[in-house]
Parts: sequence; C-alpha cells; structure tokens
Amino acid sequence: MPRLWAFCLLLASARAMPRSLQVNRTCPYQEECDASINLRHIEKLERYVNIEVDPCEDFHGYACGNWNNIHGQQDSAMSLSGDHINQQYENLFENLLRDRAAEEHGMPIYPNLVKYYHSCKVVNKPRLRRYLELLPAPTSSHWLDLVALLGRYGYHEHYVKIEVSQHNASQHMILIQPHNYNLNWNFTMHIYKVLRRHLQNEGQLLHFQDMKEKFLELEQNLLRLAKPAVEADNLKVYTLEGLQREIPEVNWSRTLGKQMGRIIHQDHQLLIDELPAIRNLINYLNEADGNLLKLYSLARFLNYLTQLPHNPLEKSEVSSSSRSSVCVRHMRKALYLAMNYAYETSFYHKQRSADDLVIHRVFEELKAEFTNTLNRNDFGLNPTLLTALKAKIEGVRLNVGNMPRNVPKDFYLDFEQSWLVGRDFYENHLHSLLHFNAHLSHLESMRNGLEKHIWYSFNYHGPELMDNIDATPYFYCLSSIIIIPYAYVQLPFYHYQFWPALLYGDLANTLGHEMLHAFDTYFVDYDAQGNMRDYSDELLLNPLYNASVNCLNDSSVESLNERTSDISGSRLALQTYMKDPQERLANGRLYFLQFAQFFCGEKGDIFHDVGSKRLNYALAQMPEFVEVFHCGPGQAMNPTERCSFW
Ligand SMILES: *[C@@H]1O[C@H](CO)[C@@H](O)[C@H](O)[C@H]1NC(C)=O
Ligand SMILES: *[C@@H]1O[C@H](CO)[C@@H](O)[C@H](O)[C@H]1NC(C)=O
Ligand SMILES: *[C@@H]1O[C@H](CO)[C@@H](O)[C@H](O)[C@H]1NC(C)=O
Ligand SMILES: *[C@@H]1O[C@H](CO)[C@@H](O)[C@H](O)[C@H]1NC(C)=O
Ligand SMILES: *[C@@H]1O[C@H](CO)[C@@H](O)[C@H](O)[C@H]1NC(C)=O
Ligand SMILES: *[C@@H]1O[C@H](CO)[C@@H](O)[C@H](O)[C@H]1NC(C)=O
Ligand SMILES: [Zn+2]
Repeated sequence: MPRLWAFCLLLASARAMPRSLQVNRTCPYQEECDASINLRHIEKLERYVNIEVDPCEDFHGYACGNWNNIHGQQDSAMSLSGDHINQQYENLFENLLRDRAAEEHGMPIYPNLVKYYHSCKVVNKPRLRRYLELLPAPTSSHWLDLVALLGRYGYHEHYVKIEVSQHNASQHMILIQPHNYNLNWNFTMHIYKVLRRHLQNEGQLLHFQDMKEKFLELEQNLLRLAKPAVEADNLKVYTLEGLQREIPEVNWSRTLGKQMGRIIHQDHQLLIDELPAIRNLINYLNEADGNLLKLYSLARFLNYLTQLPHNPLEKSEVSSSSRSSVCVRHMRKALYLAMNYAYETSFYHKQRSADDLVIHRVFEELKAEFTNTLNRNDFGLNPTLLTALKAKIEGVRLNVGNMPRNVPKDFYLDFEQSWLVGRDFYENHLHSLLHFNAHLSHLESMRNGLEKHIWYSFNYHGPELMDNIDATPYFYCLSSIIIIPYAYVQLPFYHYQFWPALLYGDLANTLGHEMLHAFDTYFVDYDAQGNMRDYSDELLLNPLYNASVNCLNDSSVESLNERTSDISGSRLALQTYMKDPQERLANGRLYFLQFAQFFCGEKGDIFHDVGSKRLNYALAQMPEFVEVFHCGPGQAMNPTERCSFW
C-alpha cells in the first residue's frame, strides 16, 4: 500500500504541476482576462480531483472524486447554481418588502411581483375552496361550457382536450384531442370535502367512497371510448366549419370562443386528433349525468392546481424563512417572463453585453466548424438533404436568459396591463394562469410579423414545465433555439474573462451539445423552421450513418439522442478549440477537468444517464483524451473500438 501511495502521488504531481504553469493565458475576446479569477477557479477544479484514481480508468472518478466531500451527495454544479439564483430572488423581494422607497417600486412589473410574493408568503392553511369561489359561473350547465372555462386557466386534461400548442418556429395552433389517457390524479378526501362545502346549496352529495366509485366508472368508460380505432397518425387539419359539420352535437364556435376569449372564424384552421374518438366521447358525455360530470371536472381542476410544480399550498406548513424559497420557486413557474424580467433588470443586465459578445462569438465559431463538417459530407449524403441540414445549422439560434429580443420600450408596460394581481394568493394564482393562457390564445391568432418576431424569439415557459427541463441549457426543437438559463452564465461554468481551457472546456462543449441536438437521432427530423420532415427515414438508409447510429445504440443507453449529442458535441468543441496538438498537451488536462465539473454529482434523470457514465463514455470516444493523459492500450478510457457520429 505505501508504495502504491507514493507512486500515485508522484504520478499526479508529474502530471499536474508543470502543465498548470503552461496554461494558455490568452484572453480570446477581451483586452484582458483577470488572472485571479482564473487561478482561483483552477485551484477549485484541482480540489475536486482525486489523485488516487487513474484518469485513464475512470475520468469521472478522478475529476470529481472529492466533489461529494466538498458539496455533499445531493448537489451538482447546476443545482447549486439554480439555488444561488433563487437566493438572489429571495433577497431581492425581501429587500423590496422592507424598503418601500426602492426605485423598483416605480418600475414596470416589480410592483405586481412584490404583491404576488407577499400574498404567497402569508398563506398558512391551504383553502382550496377559495379557488372554486373565485371561478366565474359557466354560462350554462352543459359539461363542455365548464371544460371551456377551465381551459382558460390552462387546465384541459379530461373529456376533450382543447389546447393551444406550438406547431413550428412561428406558429401556434388549437389542438383538439380525446382526453388524456394518462389518468395521473388522485381523488382525495381533502378534495371531496372542499367540493362538499362548496356545493352545499346544491343538495346532498354522495359519500366519498360512492363518489370515488362513480368517478372510476366514468373514467373506465371514457378510457374505452378514447382509444383510437387504429394505432396511426390521425392528426388532421379541419376548419371550424368542417369540425362543426363532422361533430354537430356540440357548438364548437361557442366552446372555442369561450376558451380562447375571442371570436373564432368559420374558416379558422384547427388540428384535430382522432376525430371519431372525439365524436364517441361527446355522444357519451351528452347523455351522461351532468351533475357527475361537473363534480368530476371540479375535482380534477383542484387536483391540477395543487399539483402544478411548486404550488406553495403543498408546502404551507414550512417555516417563514423557507416560505420565501417556496414562493420564489413557485413564482418562477407561474410568472416566468415577469420573473426573468426582474432577474435581468436587477442582476444580469450589468453582465449582459460582455457575455453576449463572448457567448455569441463561440456560438458562431462552432456553427462555422459544423458547417465545415457538413460540407465534408463524410456520410456521402445527397445534395438536397445536405442543403436542408445546412439550413438547419444556419437556423439554430441562441437566447441567453430566455428573454424576448428587441422589444419596444413599452413592451413590459403593455404586458403588465393585462396581468391582474388581486387580494390574495388564490386570486393571484388564478390570474397568473389566465394571463399566461390568454397570451397563448393571442399567440395563436397573431398575424403581425413584428409582434411574432418578438414572441417567437424565446420560449415562454408555462406553469406546468418541470424543473429538469428549465434548470440547465437545452435545445428547443420547434423553435430551433438554444436556451441558456441565467443559472448557467456564472461561475463555475462560465466567466467572460476565462482563459481558453476554462472558457471552452464548458461553454463550447455545452453549446456544441445543444447545437447537435438539432442533429440527434430524434430532432434531426425537423427542419430549420420546426416543421416535421422525417429526415431520419432517409438518413437511416445511408449505410455509414446507420452504422454510426448502431455503434452508439447499445442496450445500456438511457436515451440515444443524449449520447449522440454528447459525443458529437464534444468532438465539435475539440475540433474548434483544441485542434492544435501542442495546445492540447499544455491545456488539455484543464480543458477536460472544466468539462468534467458539469457532470460531478449529476444523478441522471429520465432523459440522461448518470454523470459518471455520460462523461466517461463521451471522453473515451476521443483519441485526443488518451493523448493528454497518456493512457495505455486497453485502459477503460482507451477502448480499442470507438464510434463516430457527426
Ligand atoms: C408553420 O406551419 C404552418 C401550418 O402548417 C405553415 O403554414 C407555415 O408555413 C409554417 N411556418 C414555417 C416558417 O415553415
Ligand atoms: C395517489 O395516492 C396514492 C396513495 O396515497 C399515492 O401512492 C400515489 O402516488 C398518488 N398518485 C398521484 C398521481 O399523486
Ligand atoms: C353556437 O352558439 C352561438 C351563440 O353562442 C350561436 O350564435 C350559434 O348559432 C350556435 N351555432 C350552432 C351551430 O348551433
Ligand atoms: C441499418 O441497421 C439495422 C440494424 O439496426 C439493419 O437492420 C438495417 O439493415 C440497416 N440498414 C442499412 C441501410 O444499412
Ligand atoms: C436503438 O435500438 C433500439 C433497440 O435496442 C431500437 O428500438 C431503436 O430503433 C434504435 N434506434 C435507432 C435510431 O436505430
Ligand atoms: C492560446 O489560445 C488562443 C485562443 O484559443 C489561441 O489562439 C492560441 O493559439 C493559444 N496559444 C498557444 C501558445 O497555444
Ligand atoms: Zn442534451
């Protein structure tokens, strides 16, 4: 053992010490880069390194070996960074509550946010019934009127699903489907009691168990009727008039008009999925017990509201200090754009111009390099397909902070006009849902080119979006846009004054990964404008492409399209910035350590393999890694056969 120790230490110092002295201190896009920022960061990276692990056997174990000792089991760099942003919001709102003279009180958006935050903080015992009290009465007792009313709040998960959804990079459409098959809800005693008290003037309700059974029976019937006759793509475009002709049993113009809050013209185009199933459902529902249908709708609406991500009512018993954090998390979901506006204005704007310069330059350089790759045409693709793919890479956009771009002066004043904040949390929450969904309806009707340009320049997240999507950079395929959240554009991932190994080690790899999602095994099917074109049908007929996919597609991979982006994104970054063998020898170790940090403590999720597996797999695919760490043949990070992709 002691001999092994000495050996490891020797090896480590022999590897590490001289290299860090030769670090390339060029400042690629600025006059000067502050050395202390870089040196402090390098020191931090070195502290995560476990020198007892051989980087050639397990690079994640080497680069992240001390991560848990320093940061604990639960956290990754991305989650810590997200927490930091939440803390900044908390401090901001707490200050504004205390300091009534702060200038933000006279700016757009902030007063509403502060009122909302306050109303959220003072909630104690959940009073779900208040949601129902605030709901306007539907204009008739017909089940579809209530569905349309609830649809205005973005709830549409049962009976017939009517929603506005994004169709391509510049269009939303109304989509009508049979109800959601996935009955992911619970009829609880709590909800039952709320209904009973709310409806006490409308006669005696069934007992809890009996009602539960009635609901179950209803669901089973709906489930049966909603099943498509044949498993196929039955999505078709109808005009409103055409739909009314096909299914005359309900008044569509009235229903859609109610839900969208505007008149829908007879020639308006709608997307309809499984029209025969919708017809069957409607015929059944028109004959069913109206009272039961109403109870079921209200019960599910309440369930929906409580299950929205970070609804503070779910955590109403926590202490006042953690309430701040609960409320901030909730508001970042419910008031997405307003909250981003506040972050931009209070924090990020100081940094934006320096960041934009660096990040967009790196983005353009990676794009240019990938265009070269396509021009080389290693797969031997036909010219038409190649042209379409080149248009795709040309069309990929970038949005740091996910804010609308080039907005006119009064944009946020106008935005605020249609957003009401009222007396209590329940009212505020419902208004926020109305506001978001009215916006979607407006988007769907939008014809003005300039207005569209603004609203399609970012991805306006809805209140239902789960955390694992918006917590890290991602590629939004329908808009062909890379979203970089505020949580990413800070240390430890990025600083505009980073030296090349640190700057490219994460930023170029991350942008490369997201950019190549446009060419991964799923999203390659969409064109630059987000229209589905099924390009992979043709690609998979190409034997070289097919062989590349098969090579990566082993049974252990969680999702193939993450793996393809991992390896082709890392390759792109390396080809762009670490091509020179001398530069690689001097800076490669640091470059790979900076890259590794993103994966330290990453647990993986339904889309991603665990961090250690992703990192080791991606780097083992790169012969350059072996060179930097002098790995011998047969070591784990130096497999005898490698896969290639783009
Ligand atoms: C988006 O989809 C609509 C409806 O299919 C289509 O008319 C329009 O041309 C598409 N937009 C672009 C930019 O391709
Ligand atoms: C429904 O309740 C059961 C038992 O309380 C629980 O195990 C389950 O996770 C709940 N389902 C949902 C979707 O909340
Ligand atoms: C639908 O209802 C509207 C009133 O909301 C009415 O004007 C229209 O005639 C009705 N259409 C049909 C087809 O019944
Ligand atoms: C593509 O790979 C699959 C194996 O996954 C194989 O069955 C198919 O024949 C291949 N197609 C071509 C064109 O090489
Ligand atoms: C990857 O492999 C799975 C089975 O292992 C197969 O179902 C899937 O179609 C493959 N994907 C591609 C893009 O070839
Ligand atoms: C240092 O990095 C810059 C920017 O990436 C690069 O242009 C330059 O060639 C590097 N210098 C050396 C000595 O490798
Ligand atoms: Zn990804």
